[in-house]
Amino acid sequence: MNGLVNRHILLGVTGGIAAYKAAELVRLLRRAGAEVRVVMTRGATEFVTPLTFQALSGHAVRSELFDAVAEAGMDHIELARWAELVLVAPASADFLARLAVGRADDLLATLCLASAAPIALAPAMNQQMWQAPATQENVRRLTARGIRLFGPGCGEQACGEVGPGRMLEPAELARLAGELFASGPLSGVRALVTAGPTREAIDPVRFIGNRSSGKMGFAVAAALAAAGAEVVLVAGPVALPTPPGVRRVDVESAAEMLAAVEQEQFELLVAAAAVADYRPATAEHAKIKKERAAIALELTRNPDILATISAARPAVFTVGFAAETDELERYARGKLAQKGLDMIAANWVGAGRGFEAESNALQVFWADGGTSLDEAPKSDLARQLVALVAGRYAASGKKSKG
Ligand code: PMT
Repeated sequence: MNGLVNRHILLGVTGGIAAYKAAELVRLLRRAGAEVRVVMTRGATEFVTPLTFQALSGHAVRSELFDAVAEAGMDHIELARWAELVLVAPASADFLARLAVGRADDLLATLCLASAAPIALAPAMNQQMWQAPATQENVRRLTARGIRLFGPGCGEQACGEVGPGRMLEPAELARLAGELFASGPLSGVRALVTAGPTREAIDPVRFIGNRSSGKMGFAVAAALAAAGAEVVLVAGPVALPTPPGVRRVDVESAAEMLAAVEQEQFELLVAAAAVADYRPATAEHAKIKKERAAIALELTRNPDILATISAARPAVFTVGFAAETDELERYARGKLAQKGLDMIAANWVGAGRGFEAESNALQVFWADGGTSLDEAPKSDLARQLVALVAGRYAASGKKSKG
């Protein structure tokens, strides 16, 4: 929790029974050295009085947007600028919905829009409300914008039901808030990760794809964010949640992936996506009928995203992946040299290996060396890979040029 010393935390409290736990959270954040200012929604004041938070935070609590007296002191824009973290705990289903659509219909929602600080939400609601498709859709939209979710936890709820939707305990929330400020080896570095498969259209309903689940790339994005990097994840079609603190851009084809990557600025590129090397030369506009006994598909080469960036932006530190079924080191080193990469992480694929699996093993190569990372869950392996990348990036002449 050391990262909290002298940090400015704007704690938003919304209406829910877990609001009483936010009082303990204020105490813990302050004990860890943070300065805390509390903003309550009207609903929150039905559960706990502003006076409680005023006594604990040492500052007047605000809940109204149009409050002439409060605005004469630190107005809401100043408050938004003051915050280094906006932490909303508890965050109700209604608040998630309002934030997802960008409403500014009360002080807290307005501050979330007006602040450039990272936002973390600690959801707290009935398990059915948490699992409702509308809430889940809102959560996806929010996390895709880089908003962090702290929890929710799972267990017995105030309403007597059991399931996901409990607010995390105050000590856990304070720990997670502290982690956000802890500086990692890649803090200040902008990283871009490609992940998942691409789909190349044959006609409006069919495509050429591959077995990539996105797990490896998403794990790398999460590990980079945990190491302090500012991460953009360009993802093909996968069924995975966005890792906390990562901004996600969804694409479908290789051409879309290249266009999305080219729009971003970054110093570090990790290409874990299984990009289709070929696409149908023409995608039919109407569904192909099964009138002929056989049809031939003409395929044309897709652009190589990694090689394109490596050639066009020599200052970017580039890390490729190599998926091989034979002669792993020879082919991986070939790709390292041909694509002008700084590092390449090679994995065996096929027969349940690499693609889709929960665990993986990597052999990592660079021009004058290499190392092996033994089989481990993809999240562990990604952390080891990122530590290796961070070390080599720091030692590279590229660090200051990006
Ligand atoms: O997604 P999972 O199910 O977790 O599986 C993980 C994985 C096996 C997909 C992953 O670990 C992996 O190996 N990703 C790279 C797959 C691949 O396409 O490898 P390749 O050897 O064909 O390509 C070499 C490199 O060039 C890769 O970094 C690739 O992203 C990149 N490339 C390839 C073709 C292309 N048109 N553009 C590219 O950027």
